[in-house]
Amino acid sequence: MNNKPQARIRGIGSYLPQKILSNSDLEKLVDTTNEWIVTRTGMNERRIATKEECTSHMGAYAARAALEKAQVTAADIDMILVATMSPDYLCPNTAGLIQTQIGATRAAALDIQAACTGFLYGLSIAKALVESGTYKNVLVIASEKMSSFIDYTDRNTCVLFGDGASAAVVSDSGKGWFVDTVRLGADGELADLVIIPAGGARHPASQETVEKREHFFRMSGKEVFKHAVRRMEMAAKECLDATGLAADDIRWLVPHQANLRIIDAIAKQMNIPDEKVYKTVHKYGNTSASSVAIALDELLQEQQLNHDDHLLLVAFGGGLTWGAALLTQT
Ligand code: ACO
Repeated sequence: MNNKPQARIRGIGSYLPQKILSNSDLEKLVDTTNEWIVTRTGMNERRIATKEECTSHMGAYAARAALEKAQVTAADIDMILVATMSPDYLCPNTAGLIQTQIGATRAAALDIQAACTGFLYGLSIAKALVESGTYKNVLVIASEKMSSFIDYTDRNTCVLFGDGASAAVVSDSGKGWFVDTVRLGADGELADLVIIPAGGARHPASQETVEKREHFFRMSGKEVFKHAVRRMEMAAKECLDATGLAADDIRWLVPHQANLRIIDAIAKQMNIPDEKVYKTVHKYGNTSASSVAIALDELLQEQQLNHDDHLLLVAFGGGLTWGAALLTQT
């Protein structure tokens, strides 16, 4: 008899700050137009955290919501994994800050940096920890305060990003969504395409780096776009091959919400019709690591799904990193 535990997402939660930054607000900050933003990205607005609201606070709100849905207490959590590229501090880690905010006193705490693919990297590690029998309950949190690293004088990036958080309780028992497979990839040769050049050990913060605005996020959007479509499609196909499923078997595709044109291109390449593709990009923009599970949380609240339904999650981000995950309702 096979007694190996099977990892499942037992509860999902998310948090979006109240403040809305609309396209017309951005028209007042940089040389852009609502028409350009809508046609090139599909975004109408995004959420921005207050000064006091940090990555750890948003992560803790999402974590509490996920714990409530999972009917698991903070004291039951063995490990907290936080995916973020906008941590409260370089040190200490954000996972530890959230551990104390939610009272998960038994939990170990680790941050993961895989930019927009962070949630899927976290899910993969959680699956391995649960299925190896190491832990019973792993809390995977993705939280981003991108607005702290965005240059609101740079029209190439400032229109794209928003703040927000999501969380999932991954357990060895209970009802939810089996994590059937997670496929991940990376290409460090292309690290320069998405970068915050200064503030790390290679270029520590100095007056010069601040004057050159090198502590802000930079992206070569057009190059990233090409890789995003190709890599997410590849990871998604690997997931389908690993589980013996076809694209037709997928009830919903839940993609990273970086750009409506990227989402449409992946769906088209995979022959997944638009009505099976879940989108939040118009209202939240790109919330980096948080985006996939924010979308997943909203999907599960809005739609009635059935036993054995399959969901395909795909993501892509700086690193470069990419990944896909196949979930099946228990
Ligand atoms: N308003 C008006 N014009 C603009 C704006 C703006 N906000 N931003 C750029 N432009 C201009 C550019 O300057 C350029 O002008 P030029 O032709 O005179 O030089 C023109 O618009 C076209 O620029 P492109 O870069 O060709 O525009 P594109 O159609 O590629 O769209 C975008 C840009 C939206 C960034 C797109 O490339 C994209 O979405 N890329 C992928 C982003 C992504 O996937 N990110 C995920 C990783 S992020 C992470 O990991 C955190």
